[in-house]
Amino acid sequence: MPHIKYIAHDGKEYDVDAAAGTSVMEAATSNNVPGIDGDCGGALACGTCHVYVDPAWAAKAGTPGTDAEKEMLHLLDNYEDNSRLCCQISMSDALDGLVVRLPKGQH
Ligand code: FES
Repeated sequence: MPHIKYIAHDGKEYDVDAAAGTSVMEAATSNNVPGIDGDCGGALACGTCHVYVDPAWAAKAGTPGTDAEKEMLHLLDNYEDNSRLCCQISMSDALDGLVVRLPKGQH
């Protein structure tokens, strides 16, 4: 099963196995990873699933998938070039080992 590592702003790490097809947000909320609330359920309406994709994974998961995601990301104060809304990242075997970091203030 594909694996995700979430790294909190304070450096604490959370390792989660996620079935293919599960979003990175769903994997976090169902495994009690703090700081990813997913308030809108993946409807691109809340921004509470904001993460920074580790540079090693930028090519595979670092680019927003839609204009709607880009627009929502640009509304966030702590937007960076490697920002994603992780409700929009669907896990697959190709993303096994994905590393994402949480922004300051999300905990
Ligand atoms: Fe609301 Fe991702 S869960 S934007």
